[in-house]
Amino acid sequence: MNTNEMFSAVEIELKKQTARLDAPHTKSFYDMLTYHMGWTGAGAGSTATGKRVRPILVLLSASGCGADWRLALPAAAAVELVHNFSLAHDDIQDNSPKRRGRDAAWVKWGAPMAINVGDALFVLSNQAIMDLKKNFSAEVVVAAAEILHNTCLDLTRGQYLDMSYEGRSDLGVDDYWRMIGGKTSALIAACCHIGATLGDADEEKQQAYRSFGHYLGLAFQVQDDILGIWGDEKTTGKSAASDLIEKKNSLPVLIGLEKKGKFAKRWAQGAIAPDEIGEIARLLANEGGLLGAQDAAKQMTDLALSALRSANPQGEAGEMLLRLTKRLLGRQQ
Ligand code: IPE
Ligand code: IPE
Ligand code: MG
Ligand code: MG
Repeated sequence: MNTNEMFSAVEIELKKQTARLDAPHTKSFYDMLTYHMGWTGAGAGSTATGKRVRPILVLLSASGCGADWRLALPAAAAVELVHNFSLAHDDIQDNSPKRRGRDAAWVKWGAPMAINVGDALFVLSNQAIMDLKKNFSAEVVVAAAEILHNTCLDLTRGQYLDMSYEGRSDLGVDDYWRMIGGKTSALIAACCHIGATLGDADEEKQQAYRSFGHYLGLAFQVQDDILGIWGDEKTTGKSAASDLIEKKNSLPVLIGLEKKGKFAKRWAQGAIAPDEIGEIARLLANEGGLLGAQDAAKQMTDLALSALRSANPQGEAGEMLLRLTKRLLGRQQ
């Protein structure tokens, strides 16, 4: 099993699925979509496409349950399309100007156009999942589609919580887990769950895969929060100021607030200007926000690894899932 082969098969499938939008009179709309996917425009290429973690999780989970991963490609494309729809909207919601090292779609074409790009990606994800019908029974296709649809609702609930939490000072770590469980973990859990469903796993195994994805997703978002404050913009391709400026209640911030020290005092004073970011990030690190979040990411990764042991994926896919989980902890992009 060769990951390069998987990555290029995913890219081919994504291009096939998105080609549905390609039409002569709306060429520039299609160009916006292919730009956002990382294929066209200045800076197109492997950095601009992102890591494609979610489709690979679908393929490895299916393979770990004994299926031929190639048959699962429409589902792999579907989850990556959902992810990309959410990013097009998220950058508007978060007022984030950079995505994958390039101007976000809303910066290039304005928020109304970028919303429409996100909408198209959402519909394309639903069309992609239906393409499973070429390889699987109607029952399996409906089960996979149901997981995907429920996930999209969870994702919007998580995004709602994320936005409604901005600037609040009455939140605790439990509120945080609920929020990221929706905005990030739901989709990563769905990747593993859908993969197991396509691999004809029994209910118990499906739930073990789902639980693996859930904890992996929690660890993934905690690391995203860390990078959102202390990451190197050149590596992450995203602004390292947006989260603090938008007063996001990310995990490092919640841990810092619990200290009731200098960071908490400054946070309570209101808006943060771009030229204060460096100093506030240093305060937060000094008061345990960074170490606390790193510790939480490690704990969630351990829970993911324990669920992965219960899922017991077979063959090379099993080893690849293990390696991927370990690599994502401490990732820098
Ligand atoms: C970014 O996801 C958004 C989160 C849910 C944390 P990724 O880090 O997977 O983004 P890309 O697709 O690799 O750019
Ligand atoms: C991640 O949101 C979840 C979704 C995009 C649905 P964030 O706002 O935390 O992710 P980044 O840091 O912008 O990629
Ligand atoms: Mg967001
Ligand atoms: Mg964001």
